[in-house]
Amino acid sequence: MPLGRSGRTEQAGLTEARLPHCGGLHTRDGSVDYFQIAGGKRLRGTVEISGSKNAALPIMAASILCEGEVVLHNVPDLADVRSMEVLLNKLGVATSREAGGTVRLKVQDEMNCHADYELVRKMRASVCVMGPLLAKRHKAQVSMPGGCNIGDRPINLHIAGLTGLGADTDLMSGDLLLKAKRLTGAELFLGGPFGSTVTGTANILMAATLAEGRTVIESAACEPEVTDLANFLKACGAQISGEGSPRITVDGVKQLKGCEYTIIPDRIEAGTFMIAGAITNGDIHLRNCRLEHLLAVVDRLRQIGVNIEREGEEVVVSSSRRLEPTTVTSQPYPGFPTDLQAQIMALLCLADGNSIITEKIYPDRFMHVAELNRLGAVLRKEGPTVIVEGVKRLIGAPVMASDLRASAALVLAGLVAKGETTVNRVYHIDRGYERIERKLRPLGADIERLNRATEDS
Ligand code: EPZ
Repeated sequence: MPLGRSGRTEQAGLTEARLPHCGGLHTRDGSVDYFQIAGGKRLRGTVEISGSKNAALPIMAASILCEGEVVLHNVPDLADVRSMEVLLNKLGVATSREAGGTVRLKVQDEMNCHADYELVRKMRASVCVMGPLLAKRHKAQVSMPGGCNIGDRPINLHIAGLTGLGADTDLMSGDLLLKAKRLTGAELFLGGPFGSTVTGTANILMAATLAEGRTVIESAACEPEVTDLANFLKACGAQISGEGSPRITVDGVKQLKGCEYTIIPDRIEAGTFMIAGAITNGDIHLRNCRLEHLLAVVDRLRQIGVNIEREGEEVVVSSSRRLEPTTVTSQPYPGFPTDLQAQIMALLCLADGNSIITEKIYPDRFMHVAELNRLGAVLRKEGPTVIVEGVKRLIGAPVMASDLRASAALVLAGLVAKGETTVNRVYHIDRGYERIERKLRPLGADIERLNRATEDS
């Protein structure tokens, strides 16, 4: 039961019927939102970057570990965050959202430990409740995540890490069952064929905080979102060192208390807006942007001819008319983030020459290629690599979003394409960007969120 500060019940998030899922988020009456964009406007002005989705989700899940209230600030208001609220409510965690991005969470009931298929299939990050449930309630039943448009997303490393801490696992009609009277610290290796695992590291880190003794996580993910989770857990009393490096050490404690914590800014949203400024040949100021989390992105953008400078508390982005081609390879942090691969591809479509983009994290994460080609791009996929042949201009057309970051790339392309671009299935973008059109319009973008009765009307 979601409780507000005054004890009144609040709608904790979207009702079940409106939860986002791979099949799409429909508004109450079943209608579908889409974006209508008139290209050619140069973006100018200041945009505020929201809190990080990929930091907020595991930190919200970590509230399961805490005795006492957790107060989180700078939590973005996203479909995925509201899905996590609904999941946590089902797991006995009361949540309430206040104006300005504050979310309060408090464990009220530890009976239910089942994250069911209906919720997990809509948001893979639901797997982040596994570690906390196992550590605090000694059991977890979590639906195995299904397929995803960006490619194969196994959780074998999560399972290996948790069994390494002493969990017994079983599979029952698509659900993973985990049990452990008490977890015991161990030396664990979390390296997979594509590097480490971000949410896998989060799961093991959370579980290890209440395990008996010391846990060393070798080949841990170094993403800033993992560091943010570690900082949150330490604020709750966890003993953690090495976060942000490939070796994290955790000394188990008896219990974690609640705390007040502010989520880091979203580096992927910041990178998306940097590219929005560059692709429209604009001049935008980003507020609440941690440049040190984007060094690989800044490196590539400067190579392309984008000017990125810090000015006091802001980051200023502008670009020369002529964009240079370059090579981009997505890597684990601190390498170029896979979550900005589609967006920089949209920019490189307009470079003066051929670029090469290689995807090393999700080799099939190219659903945006065919849609960008519909806008006049010349892209050719060769396995995990795409050859981007620079063109003079893109031409507006109706296109279909397929996943969160691909949809962002289509919006960026629509901002610069000649004429009108319609981006369908924008529920994908609402999962990771706070009403992106409300941030783009004040910068001068001609973008409108419209609504039609059904998908095919
Ligand atoms: C996180 O997903 C992010 N999501 C993703 O962002 C991001 O693309 C990804 O990390 C990589 O940076 C959240 O943090 C909620 P992984 P995650 O486990 O943790 C393989 C977005 O757009 N792997 O780091 O699920 C896997 O197949 C989303 O915001 C295994 O082999 O990704 C992939 O190739 C999309 N076994 C690679 O590792 C495992 O057990 C990285 O996956 C787990 C992963």
